[in-house]
Amino acid sequence: MKDLDNEKKLAAKEAVKYLKDNQVVGLGSGSSATHAILEIGELVKNGLKITGVSTSSKSEELAKSLGIPTVDISSVSSIDVTIDGADEFTSDLNLIKGGGAALLKEKVVASLTKEEIIIADSSKKVELLGKFTIPVEVIRYASKYVMSQIILLGGKGEIRLTEGEPLLTEEGNYIIDADFGLIPDPAYLATRLSEIAGVVEHGLFIKLAARVIMGNNDSTITFS
Ligand code: A5P
Repeated sequence: MKDLDNEKKLAAKEAVKYLKDNQVVGLGSGSSATHAILEIGELVKNGLKITGVSTSSKSEELAKSLGIPTVDISSVSSIDVTIDGADEFTSDLNLIKGGGAALLKEKVVASLTKEEIIIADSSKKVELLGKFTIPVEVIRYASKYVMSQIILLGGKGEIRLTEGEPLLTEEGNYIIDADFGLIPDPAYLATRLSEIAGVVEHGLFIKLAARVIMGNNDSTITFS
């Protein structure tokens, strides 16, 4: 059986090699990004001078606990490098993100980032996106309307629950997990989803990643 957590760790160790002194570094969210933040914490302890920008309160807390200096995103005009995870990626570097419900801040950070590095275990690589449902963050008021629009686009949505209640994101919104089956044209679907009133953001990340670093079970690394 594959040790997916070790594959994530391998990818994280490789990704932090891209960091240099005085950079502004985006800190992703999720289990892969957690490995990267732990690695960055070690580097900072050993003298690396970076400023972090977090994509979630969890990442912020972890960074603080490791002594990584962080600033609010509003105090930077760009981010040099971000290291984040993904739920799925294709060879042309399109992604589905948001399994951990942090997609909104992750997309804002990715959009401000010069070099978005995605780290992944080998289960994340797919030919076509869409086996993993697309997380769509919506204002609560519009959730029913957005569900109906997702159906018109050929999909099927379900509000994400936690302990039987709708999950609330850090911004107080709902997540609709939308199933469109395998997606031949993710850029087209991304545009259609963004056009729906009440959608705050969705988990299709199109042309935002500069590279994907994937750990393999035999301890090698694959670069895309
Ligand atoms: C968080 O909202 C997500 O976008 C994560 O980056 C993504 O779900 C990957 O998570 P893991 O690294 O835990 O697999």
